Amino acid sequence: MINDSFRIGSGYDIHKFLEFTLFENAAKKLYLGGVLIEEHIGVEAHSDGDVVLHSLTDALLGALSLPDIGVLYPDNLKSTKGVSSIEIINYAYGLVKEQGYSLVNADITIVTQTPKVSSYKERMISSVSSVLNVDKSRINIKGKTKEGLDSVGKQKAIECFTVCLLSKG
Ligand code: CDP
Ligand code: ZN
Repeated sequence: MINDSFRIGSGYDIHKFLEFTLFENAAKKLYLGGVLIEEHIGVEAHSDGDVVLHSLTDALLGALSLPDIGVLYPDNLKSTKGVSSIEIINYAYGLVKEQGYSLVNADITIVTQTPKVSSYKERMISSVSSVLNVDKSRINIKGKTKEGLDSVGKQKAIECFTVCLLSKG
């Protein structure tokens, strides 16, 4: 019999940085793990465009083969426009808990040229762990550049990869 006490999930997300020249979008903020990254260009998104929370949400849902974030919160619905990613992940983690699982750990890699992730790491870990109500030691966040290569390397976008483990009981 297959032992389902543990389930692994992976999630990915990417958002385009806004062009500074688009005045009407210039005020859009950059959120990472629920933390407002001050004085940084924001991203294009239907929600608040938080790549950390979106990739973590998909990892949590994926671990239990639940519908992904785009199915639960379609980006063509007026009712979900501007929705907070904290609300989205709360809903997703609620589904996980309903099935009797909780988060063992999540390892999150943000790939971007800027900002320097290490400067915000502690704040993001505090934020994500408090949103999910888990110990800080269960969340790891690290940054990586694309060494100037491709769209992320050219500072056109920011992406995030997450792997998580859930345990039953
Ligand atoms: O040294 P290597 O080419 O493997 O990696 P890098 O992309 O140049 O990043 C070096 C280190 O800077 C990473 O290991 C992170 O600790 C940090 N980093 C960061 O804090 N925020 C980023 N956006 C990118 C890198
Ligand atoms: Zn997203």
